[in-house]
Amino acid sequence: MSRGFGNHGLVYQGLVNPMFVLAHLSDPHLGPLPRPPMSALASKRLLGYLNWQRSRRAVHRADVLDAIVRDLRGARPDHVAVTGDLVNIALAPEFERARHWLESLGAPADVSLVPGNHDAYVRAAALHRDRHWTPYMTGDGGAVTFPYVRRRGPVALVGLTTAVATPPFMATGRLGAGQIARTQAVLAELGAARLFRVVMIHHPPVAPPASRHKRLVDAAEFRRAVAAAGCELVIHGHDHVFARGTIAGAGAAVPVIGVPSASASAGARHQAAGYNLYRIDAAPGAFTCEVVSRGLVATGAIAERDRFELSWRRPE
Ligand SMILES: [Fe+2]
Ligand SMILES: [Fe+2]
Repeated sequence: MSRGFGNHGLVYQGLVNPMFVLAHLSDPHLGPLPRPPMSALASKRLLGYLNWQRSRRAVHRADVLDAIVRDLRGARPDHVAVTGDLVNIALAPEFERARHWLESLGAPADVSLVPGNHDAYVRAAALHRDRHWTPYMTGDGGAVTFPYVRRRGPVALVGLTTAVATPPFMATGRLGAGQIARTQAVLAELGAARLFRVVMIHHPPVAPPASRHKRLVDAAEFRRAVAAAGCELVIHGHDHVFARGTIAGAGAAVPVIGVPSASASAGARHQAAGYNLYRIDAAPGAFTCEVVSRGLVATGAIAERDRFELSWRRPE
């Protein structure tokens, strides 16, 4: 059993209070970009590199990300979920640096990662990703296929990949029919075991998508799978904003919650950095979950921005 960051899991083991704290951050877009070799720029990467130099490097800042991670660790979560876009244009050194950042968050048993579209910016990226990040994307028992499943106390984490290489100016994601079918089967099985099921996915699966060129192309098929099997919580990144939506579940609505980029500075045209804590009380048959959103505020500090209870009521 993983020791986790805090003692919540150990308390759960003693059945005193089955509280489990999951922290969720996303889209760190770690900088600065290494200088790419000319050969690497003969692709979509050239546009991405120019975009980084022109605007993104001013948005995604290491000092902001460090402050977010410090605050998160102070909350002593039992587990951390990271929903993708660790890198920018998928150069090999970016993946290695991202692995060091993951190690600073925690051991692979305590940190679960799913990749985003920037982590699959070009086809060659998969090689680097598998080489450096696999321990953070491996299921219990060592399975390395998606979806992967990790059981931690009363919670089952289900990690999906939507990361596929796309043409320039596109940031779409795709799950594929096989992964969706396996996810439905896994969710049904974990539901029968009465675990609190958390799906981790980079692209938001809600309808309608924020924009066509950033959408999850097979979101409708994914929603059908969740409607059939049920799920307690879907968490995502990609849109770089705090977001609250729902999709249909098996008899109850499923909350779908997004977080901003964990490295975003304060700015007029984007939301400042933030992350969520989910305090899950998963007594059999009686789930509760309080969400605490924390983030960068006007003073430059990291502070609470929102707090709410999840509800699984069927939509009216
Ligand atoms: Fe992103
Ligand atoms: Fe993304």
